[in-house]
Amino acid sequence: MTTTASQEAFLQTFHAEHPSVTAEVFDRGRASDGRTSYEILRDRVTGSRRVLDLGCGDGLLLEYLAREDGRQLAGVDLSPESLALARRRPALSDARLEEGRAQELPFADDSFDACVSHLALMLMGEIEQVAAEVARVLSPGGILACVVGGGAVGGEAYDRFLGLLRSTVAKLPATQRIPALGDGRARSRNGLDSVLGPAGFGAVDWETVPLDLSGPVGQVWTTVSGMYDLGPLDRSTVERLREAFLAEVTDLTTPDGRVPCAVKVHVATARLR
Ligand SMILES: C[S@@+](CC[C@H](N)C(=O)[O-])C[C@H]1O[C@@H](n2cnc3c(N)ncnc32)[C@H](O)[C@@H]1O
Repeated sequence: MTTTASQEAFLQTFHAEHPSVTAEVFDRGRASDGRTSYEILRDRVTGSRRVLDLGCGDGLLLEYLAREDGRQLAGVDLSPESLALARRRPALSDARLEEGRAQELPFADDSFDACVSHLALMLMGEIEQVAAEVARVLSPGGILACVVGGGAVGGEAYDRFLGLLRSTVAKLPATQRIPALGDGRARSRNGLDSVLGPAGFGAVDWETVPLDLSGPVGQVWTTVSGMYDLGPLDRSTVERLREAFLAEVTDLTTPDGRVPCAVKVHVATARLR
C-alpha cells in the first residue's frame, strides 16, 4: 500500500466512526468578528455561481454556500458516511455529491468558478496532483479558497492538550499512532505558493485567524478530543488523557466555569491565471 493510500484508509476508517466531527467542533468556533471559519470561506467566494467543496465532509460548508441564490454546488469526499449526512441536508438536494479523491476529481474541465476546502487540503497526499486537478476543473480566473489548520494559540486549553497528547503518544506502540497526514506545504503560504504556482495559480493571499472555542470544560474536552490522533487510542488511554486534561485546565477555568480554548487557522486564497 502506498503512503497516500494508507493515509486515505486511515481517514476513511476514522470518519466512518466520526462522520461530522469537524463540523460539530468548528461551527462553534468564532473569529473576532463573530464569523465561523465556514462563514469566512463562504465570504471569500461571494458571487461565484458554480462552487466545488474539496473534502466536503458532512456538507456544512455547502449548506452555508447554498444560502446564496442560483448556485450550482458540488462536493467530493473520501468518506461515504460523511457524504450520507451531506445528502440528508435539504438545502443540498440539488448538489452533486461524489465519493472520490481530490487527486482524481470526477468532474469535467472548466466546471467551476470557485473551489473551497475547509480543513481538508492539508490532509491530502500527492498535493501537486490535487492542485492540477483543481486547476483543471476551475474556469480561467476561478478562485481556490481554503482553510488549513494553524495549531494552538498558546497558553490556553488546546495548547495544554497538545502537550499532554504528545507525551501520551510518545509512550505508545506504533499501532496506536496515526500515520503522518498530508503534505506540510499546505500549511504555509510559501509552501502553497510552491505547489499552486506551477499548476497555474497566482500568488497566495494568506490570513491567520484565531478561532475562539472556549466553553464549559466538558465542551472543550469534546473539542480537543475530536482530533485524529485519538482515533487509534484504546479507551483506558483516552480516559487517562481526559483526566489529565481536566486537571491541567483547572487553573485556567474562569469563575463562571469557562475554559479558554482557541485554535489558529490560515485562510488561503489564490486565483487561477
Ligand atoms: C477534517 S475533515 C473536514 C470536513 C469538512 N470539510 C468540514 O470542515 O467540516 C477532512 C475531510 O477531508 C476528506 N479528505 C481527505 N483527503 C481527501 C482526498 N484526498 N480526497 C477527498 N476527500 C478527502 C476526509 O474524508 C474528511 O471528510
